[in-house]
Amino acid sequence: MNDLDSLIYEKTGLTTEAAMRMDNTNIYEQIGEAAFWQLSRNFYDLVFNDEEQWFRNIFKASDKQQAIRNQVEFFIQRMGGPPLYSERKGHPALIARHLSFNMNEKAAERWISHMRKALDTTDTIPPEIKEMIFDYCRHTAWFLSIGVRMRRGQQGVRA
Ligand code: HEM
Repeated sequence: MNDLDSLIYEKTGLTTEAAMRMDNTNIYEQIGEAAFWQLSRNFYDLVFNDEEQWFRNIFKASDKQQAIRNQVEFFIQRMGGPPLYSERKGHPALIARHLSFNMNEKAAERWISHMRKALDTTDTIPPEIKEMIFDYCRHTAWFLSIGVRMRRGQQGVRA
């Protein structure tokens, strides 16, 4: 395991292989586009109504409908569907696109807890697929949180 993978493993207990097991199936074909819209609407409802102002502030420059569309198109593309995100916005370049946000540990934990709740309240996704999406998301959340801070050369992350 490389350094970044071991730091993510310390946080999640997931190897990259386990986190990416959704790549062995086609989630988009199994759940369809509408389920992704339901999931991302549920997720951003929680984000934009969060009682913690510090967390809402991370999204203060974002338009909720645009944020939902960005996430839906990205998820569809990443989970076996057409490349809607890249056709509109180019390479996802997730670390680069998160460099200007607060990506500290608390932010990652809160993002993950909202995604957990959003999945729990999305009734169009079967349970085993929810777990695949959740593991992919929490692994990627830590990849971004640690990766962004490493890229910035910030203290507190072992390189
Ligand atoms: C670690 C916690 C995270 C925080 C605090 C965070 C924060 C943000 C913020 C503030 C935006 C701008 C909203 C918008 O206008 O689209 C954003 C966009 C985005 N995020 Fe995250 N994010 C996190 C984790 C993730 C994860 C785990 C993924 C993927 C699995 C992800 C994928 C994206 C994508 C695709 C966009 C759209 C980027 C764009 O088109 O500019 N984010 N994120």
